[in-house]
Amino acid sequence: MAAKTMAGGISTHQDLNEVIRQHSERLAAQLHSQRESLFPPDASKQMRKFMSGEAAALLGVNDSYLRKLHLDGKGPSPELTPGNRRLYSAHDIQALRELLEKTARKPGDYLPGRRDGDHLQIIGVMNFKGGSGKTTTSAHLAQRLALLGYRVLAIDLDPQASLTALHGVQPEFDLEDGGTLYDAIRYDDPVPIREVIRPTYIPNLDLIPGNLELMEFEHETPRALSQGNAGLFFFRVKEALAQVDDNYDVVVIDCPPQLGFLTMSALSASTGVLVTIHPEMLDVMSMSQFLRMTADLMDVIAESGADMSHDWMRYVLTRYEPSDAPQNRIVAFLRTMYGETVLNAPMLKSTAISDAGLTKQTLYEVERSAFTRSTYDRAVESLNALNDEIADLIQKTWGRS
Ligand SMILES: Nc1ncnc2c1ncn2[C@@H]1O[C@H](COP(=O)(O)OP(=O)(O)OP(=O)(O)O)[C@@H](O)[C@H]1O
Ligand SMILES: [Mg+2]
Repeated sequence: MAAKTMAGGISTHQDLNEVIRQHSERLAAQLHSQRESLFPPDASKQMRKFMSGEAAALLGVNDSYLRKLHLDGKGPSPELTPGNRRLYSAHDIQALRELLEKTARKPGDYLPGRRDGDHLQIIGVMNFKGGSGKTTTSAHLAQRLALLGYRVLAIDLDPQASLTALHGVQPEFDLEDGGTLYDAIRYDDPVPIREVIRPTYIPNLDLIPGNLELMEFEHETPRALSQGNAGLFFFRVKEALAQVDDNYDVVVIDCPPQLGFLTMSALSASTGVLVTIHPEMLDVMSMSQFLRMTADLMDVIAESGADMSHDWMRYVLTRYEPSDAPQNRIVAFLRTMYGETVLNAPMLKSTAISDAGLTKQTLYEVERSAFTRSTYDRAVESLNALNDEIADLIQKTWGRS
């Protein structure tokens, strides 16, 4: 139906699909020009450099020891600031890690990943509540583990593709010919998962990006089920990951905010599950539904004979404000109810984290000088404590303390 426009330019009658399409095109054009100015096409993301103290902390050695290595000409040469301070790139830190491991007292002191017999850790980050902090948790966890020397694969399973954008891949422009996990899990002619894995600018961190094409899996699965050829659809992610099992220590999967077939497949692939909770009453109420639906769905999967055992499941408190009394009541209530399944370290709410997100960066990527020092330090300490608690769980699963 044609649009009728009155004299004032107010459209009185227009097909909704037309309106939505126009709005979409306008928004895409605006976003495109904004991106062109913020991130010129040839710009690629880079990890910032680390002060010698930060590098030493990541490696678990003293700064004076790193300084001695530098003076002795061992390992990579750090960049020197005009004030003669040493700056290490993430690649320098990885090179030092490999150097230190050669003379380590115990094997694995500097390379904390899998040893013979340890199984791949697949961590699904989920909750069907939108905005509960899944992507922020996934991105910081994946980057921190990579900086600590784990070989990490981050998977964006959310068609909204925020994790993808955070890692410098533009979901609408860089993936026109596919390249998401959908290609490796679709029912007809899936590609080897290797073909959709790409390295990032962070050593030890690879990415499988996402975009709207992932929605195809939600549409195709019922069709395949009705035709009887979906097989064990919920194992498609697990089976795809089995092809690259040897290449990684940890896989982190950022799930979409719904309990669809993608999330169910991630849940069936996971060895560890992180449920993000923003401690506010409405969120906690919807979580009760999420848990019940998840349990019901897992029953259905288990009935088909699948092994639903996990190594661990934990709740992560996100955007937590310690000065907020109602939040504290909810946190106390959750800790009483769920005990040690609520991780001790919460992710604090911080403008440093949300501001970094505005420029498509994690807190680990932004320069500390971009923020008030105490704001940055408080946020990064909370993220490190949270991620290191998860790293401990991983080590425990492998039988180490
Ligand atoms: N600790 C934090 N402090 C401040 N802001 C935060 C924090 N964690 C997340 N945010 C902000 O909250 C918003 C939602 O976070 P995030 O995208 O991680 O949630 P999500 O669960 O992945 O959302 P979705 O369900 O849409 O995928 C983002 O704008 C993010 O920058
Ligand atoms: Mg998200």
